[in-house]
Amino acid sequence: MNNTNLSTQFIAHPSGPLRGILRVPGDKSISHRAIMLGALANGTTQVSGFLEGEDTLATLTAFRAMGVHIEGPQLGQVILHGVGLHGLQPPRTPLYLGNSGTSMRLLAGLMAGQSFAVEMTGDSSLSRRPMRRVTEPLTRMGALIETTPQGTPPLKIKGGQGLQGIDYYLPVASAQVKSALLLAGLYASGLTCITEPAPTRDHTERLLTGFGYPIQRNGSKVCLAGGGQLQATSIDVPADISSAAFFIVGASIATGSEVLLEHVGINPTRTGIITILRQMGADIRLQNEREMGGEPVADILVLTSSLHGISIPVEQVPLAIDEFPVLFIAAACAQGETRLTGAEELRVKESDRIQVMAKGLQTLGIDAQPTRDGMVISGGKMHGGVIQSYGDHRIAMAFTIASLGASDQIIIEDCANVATSFPNFVHLAQQAGIDIQLKVTGN
Ligand code: S3P
Repeated sequence: MNNTNLSTQFIAHPSGPLRGILRVPGDKSISHRAIMLGALANGTTQVSGFLEGEDTLATLTAFRAMGVHIEGPQLGQVILHGVGLHGLQPPRTPLYLGNSGTSMRLLAGLMAGQSFAVEMTGDSSLSRRPMRRVTEPLTRMGALIETTPQGTPPLKIKGGQGLQGIDYYLPVASAQVKSALLLAGLYASGLTCITEPAPTRDHTERLLTGFGYPIQRNGSKVCLAGGGQLQATSIDVPADISSAAFFIVGASIATGSEVLLEHVGINPTRTGIITILRQMGADIRLQNEREMGGEPVADILVLTSSLHGISIPVEQVPLAIDEFPVLFIAAACAQGETRLTGAEELRVKESDRIQVMAKGLQTLGIDAQPTRDGMVISGGKMHGGVIQSYGDHRIAMAFTIASLGASDQIIIEDCANVATSFPNFVHLAQQAGIDIQLKVTGN
């Protein structure tokens, strides 16, 4: 948990090239789901490559609080002694989930199916995030859940309700909502079916299959029947493409770079970053493509290239949803104009990423115009400046990468939450050739 009396700054000077072989930490989405399903399986699940970040540790701690014996994490290894779908114990206190929207939304689905009551809380950012997108369909399934009048956390879930399956059309393309409903569906009578307006990350579906749970997919519709069992398995979590993204953009913009990112998950529901950057002219090569435990993986070689602006295809938006902060930096370093539309979801992430990125880019002298659902960025010369990250991990890391294309130092404020998804970011960035210093001060 972050110490609120300390302020954490990144100080990044123009530097580069980026070079070397890097392994970024484990995939955040898969790590959360591995804990959830391993805890609820019959038998012992071994996880390797687990992300030891604050968000995924919040999920792990929540299951410990509900009586699951979990060994580790140690060097990415976790052993879960599963209690079965009906073996969780009521926690003694509210579950505190820090900054983690994924923990809260997915757990909302799982907790709705339990026999006991649970309260879930979070930090100031999570306490502002919309939860009706999960509570509304869960209520239709028979759950009893209270939010604040604004539809934000804390969530109070009554438990002990018999859930019924639903056939639900997702109003927003959200893997968190889809996953929450599938997890509730494990406890529901009959079929739970979800239809997506556009493909979103499918790690829950793949992992359910890995745990031996029958699931039917038909185009944009996915269904499961309640009343089954999860069988323990072993899971090798690939490196997170959302973390690799910072170095993919960094190597693309810093002259003379050549970086190999090892063992990165390239699930097609996550590779929008590669598609978009290639359209902008990036030189990204996938090597040694293989499949590990139901997820495609590759080593990604990135060489410097000269980028140009594009209109980002709207169907790529959900496939790159977490990568827009650093894609905006790529756009600022590209020749010409980049236009993003159809990305209003960015306004309800850990911060309002449209507003916060536009303001930061303007501070560095870039013409960045926020729109309701995206941004228009004209590539240009970036100078230095002081950037407010608003405690958003991906904003802090994106502006670190901006220093590779800037003429002067960039100071980034409020960076402690980088530990939610990428705890060794500063070290790995230094190793790759970025001139970044961490400054922690009391206030
Ligand atoms: C996630 C889904 C996405 C993403 C988040 C992780 C997941 O959120 O932004 O970082 O693990 O399911 P949405 O479902 O809100 O798009």
